Amino acid sequence: MKNDWKKRYGDWAIVTGASSGLGADFVRQLARKGMNIILVARRVDMMNAIAEEVENECNVKTQLIGQDLIESDAVDNIRKEVGDKEIGVLINNAGYGALGKFHENDYDYQVEMVTLNCVVPVALTHAFIEPMVKRGKGAVIFLASTAAYQGVPFFSVYAATKSFNLFLAEGLWGEYRKQGIDIMGLSPGYTATEFQSHAHIKRNKGPAPAKSEDVVELAIRKLGKRPSVIHGIINNIGAFSSRFVPRGTSAKLSGAIMKMMRPGL
Ligand SMILES: NC(=O)c1ccc[n+]([C@@H]2O[C@H](COP(=O)([O-])OP(=O)(O)OC[C@H]3O[C@@H](n4cnc5c(N)ncnc54)[C@H](OP(=O)(O)O)[C@@H]3O)[C@@H](O)[C@H]2O)c1
Repeated sequence: MKNDWKKRYGDWAIVTGASSGLGADFVRQLARKGMNIILVARRVDMMNAIAEEVENECNVKTQLIGQDLIESDAVDNIRKEVGDKEIGVLINNAGYGALGKFHENDYDYQVEMVTLNCVVPVALTHAFIEPMVKRGKGAVIFLASTAAYQGVPFFSVYAATKSFNLFLAEGLWGEYRKQGIDIMGLSPGYTATEFQSHAHIKRNKGPAPAKSEDVVELAIRKLGKRPSVIHGIINNIGAFSSRFVPRGTSAKLSGAIMKMMRPGL
């Protein structure tokens, strides 16, 4: 039922990184569940188009917050813009990666990645989870990745940030599962979004990328049932089998895969 999610979690969902890719599909699919959506990202024009689309199709309310999340006052600004709205769902989705040799990748870009991918989800979750605890309902999703399941040479900082997201989600799931709050880590594999161009990935071989709407559909379906979920059978087999090989072997294998993502690495 469309309005079940409002009853189940609360009136509004916040989606970070809502201007493209997985975030835009979270906006669409949460709106189809009847939730009002607060979209957060830097590109307001793109969020505006998505907001108009869901307002027309789903008869929900939206609010746009144009915010660079790596700015030190970002979470305070969001808290002020949100005001006293009942936040039932938080999707910690904004993030980027950078493929390349660690010492050659720009230092600031990598440190800002850690801020965006790790610090911001902690700060936003801390800001919005307490009212959920008081109401005894709510949900938080953290975007992890198949890169979270082992060290990934040439994607080392990004993979480490995604391990952080996965372990944060699973830990918080254990803390809040008896208080009515559904927390989940979502691990997409290679998914067709703007992510690859920002990460300088030039992949022209291998299986077709997943569709972002399918990844989001899995997350929506599994929320409340599992502490974490990986999209795709091959990705599940890869993450599971990495438990049974020495960690060095696993890292070497993922390094070889990353080299295929950018010839010349
Ligand atoms: N696509 C994949 O293959 C894949 C695989 C595993 C995990 N993931 C994860 O999925 C999440 C979403 O990525 P995506 O694939 O949908 O990529 P995407 O299309 O590049 O989307 C990234 C989103 O993050 C926002 N963002 C980036 N920097 C920001 C900043 N400083 N402040 C505010 N917003 C910012 C972008 O919006 P603006 O540019 O408008 O600010 C955009 O909406 C990421 O956490 C990524 O690690 C993706």
